Amino acid sequence: MKIVILNGSPHLNGPTSDMVDGFIEGATSVGHEVEHFHVAHMNIHGCIACEYCRNKKKGKCVQKDDMQEIYPKLKGADMIVFASPIYYFTLSAQLQAAIQRTYAIDIPKKVKKVALILSSGSPFVYGPAITEYYQSIVEYWGVQSVGIFTANGKQNKSKKKRNELVEFGKRL
Ligand SMILES: Cc1cc2nc3c(=O)[nH]c(=O)nc-3n(C[C@H](O)[C@H](O)[C@H](O)COP(=O)(O)O)c2cc1C
Repeated sequence: MKIVILNGSPHLNGPTSDMVDGFIEGATSVGHEVEHFHVAHMNIHGCIACEYCRNKKKGKCVQKDDMQEIYPKLKGADMIVFASPIYYFTLSAQLQAAIQRTYAIDIPKKVKKVALILSSGSPFVYGPAITEYYQSIVEYWGVQSVGIFTANGKQNKSKKKRNELVEFGKRL
């Protein structure tokens, strides 16, 4: 499968990225092709609701920022993984900006599977992030959620949690 990861953590070596790296290790070891975008380190603006993508050039975003690099990868992906730290009980603003910019291409045509990876300081803080993932992605796109992984407190950057993600990547 072609897998695209949108990682909304600004920390390249934090617990979110550690879980993502475990997933990549597992998935690539069984032959999947993975592209990992650190969207918090890319120039990605919020949607400006100009409707250019709907009314002028269908499927094209007027904003010529780094989403232009991501759009073709999303269109070609069989699976998309969303990864984020929890900020104020939900996904990071950087990941939300990237998700909202998919308005331009609407539902990626090939994608069948999605997954969610979240890291937080505390437990029991995932409700709004998981709701957003289910409503905006799983239900709206009509795709299958194949896994939701969370880590908080001592689970963050633990060997056990990383191995969970390695195994998840291997059994896709
Ligand atoms: C702006 C901000 C808001 C946060 N909000 C929450 C929160 O609502 N609940 C929580 O448990 N942790 C919260 N945290 C802690 C992060 O989710 C936690 O440190 C996480 O492990 C960061 O992952 P990362 O280093 O991979 O980005 C917040 C951190 C920041 C910087």
